[in-house]
Amino acid sequence: MCAPSFYALPAALIQQQCRTSQYYVASDANAVVEHTRRVLLIEDNEVVHMRDDGAVHIFKFDSDQYSRRLLRPASVQRGLSTLEMEVEQIRKGNFEHFMQKEIHEQPDSLTMTIRDHLKTIRRSRRILFIGCGTSYNAALAARPVVEEHSGIPVTMEIASDLLDRQGPIYREDTAIFVSQSGETAYTLEALEYAKSNGALCVGITNTVGSAIARGTHCGIHLNAGCEIGVASTKAYTSQIAVIVMLALALGVDSLSTQQRRNAIMDVLYNLPSKVRDVLKLDRDMKELAALLMEEQSLLVFGRGYNYATALECALKVKQVSLMHAEGIVAGDMKHGPLALVDETLRIIVIAIRDASLNKQQSVRQQLKARKGRLIVMCTEGDAEFMCLIEHCLQPMINIVPLQLLAYQLTVFRGFNVDQPRNLAKSVTTQ
Ligand code: G6P
Repeated sequence: MCAPSFYALPAALIQQQCRTSQYYVASDANAVVEHTRRVLLIEDNEVVHMRDDGAVHIFKFDSDQYSRRLLRPASVQRGLSTLEMEVEQIRKGNFEHFMQKEIHEQPDSLTMTIRDHLKTIRRSRRILFIGCGTSYNAALAARPVVEEHSGIPVTMEIASDLLDRQGPIYREDTAIFVSQSGETAYTLEALEYAKSNGALCVGITNTVGSAIARGTHCGIHLNAGCEIGVASTKAYTSQIAVIVMLALALGVDSLSTQQRRNAIMDVLYNLPSKVRDVLKLDRDMKELAALLMEEQSLLVFGRGYNYATALECALKVKQVSLMHAEGIVAGDMKHGPLALVDETLRIIVIAIRDASLNKQQSVRQQLKARKGRLIVMCTEGDAEFMCLIEHCLQPMINIVPLQLLAYQLTVFRGFNVDQPRNLAKSVTTQ
């Protein structure tokens, strides 16, 4: 006789006795945990065929989006999962009622809410970051830290693109929605889409009670304070900080990275003073802006931890100063961008002292050889600065002078800084 298995089907509780196997079919794990912990999870649009001889087959039906015709079902291979519930959880114990028991359980349940979600994220097969604009860039900046400390593959999704292609999302995925406002239409729609596909949905927003904060299974509030300027700035650095902290929490069980985690925590703690230091570059950025204000176009080359910095710098420049700007991953330079380079083109190269420095110096030489007009962003007082700042945290520092540059450019060019033309703070319609 096979061990009994549990099948979750919406609103159905069927007990089936077969000659050689015993199965329970239920919509809720509570119903079967007394009998078995080995379960086979059934997803939407699936049909299970159980035969007398104990064989079980799952078929997935998919309807053709356009013609609405039913297509042939595909056979699905899926292994058994193990329920982590204890039978005691569905008993009243010393309490008269479940409600009474559950009221008393709240101190523990609140702790578990956070801990269990971390556990679920750790078990995910994939983490997806989903967002728009600056929020997408923030997640991109923190992606390497999440990969390093969680060991889980991380993919990046611009919310609208995910929806356009109806990209695959699975129940083993954790989808993290990054949105300052928590109201961006595409991000919100992507949340509904990920939820309907069974993923664990985590929100990172700056707005308590926003649609994304309400709609996700759990989340982190940025606490960055109200951000009014249409072009996001302070939320960007806070989003990166929060995702880095999430990454550290995900890796907390790993002894081999403990030292590095501690080092990152120490630097995180000192980050505000480092940001204060770079803010002193305001006057230098004003001079640079004066130099660049008549330009038609600006390229920004970054890589590694600072690929996102390049994208975000270009986004800020185009959003508010209305100058054409492109952020480019420097490793791709020879696959197109190099063709643009001549003695008129202004280019920012982010070549700070990190693992990408040698490669960025070679990029710099090649751009110079084509007479590009370079502005190189480099590390001041090399060695000293190096010990003060973990490379993975540099994006939070490096973006600040570039934000100042975009701001000063806008003032020089005479455009509206806080409400750039054609843009809105919260894009709530598509
Ligand atoms: C708009 C704003 C951007 C912002 C983006 C995403 O385009 O102008 O500054 O980055 O929306 O907004 P969210 O609130 O989802 O972070």
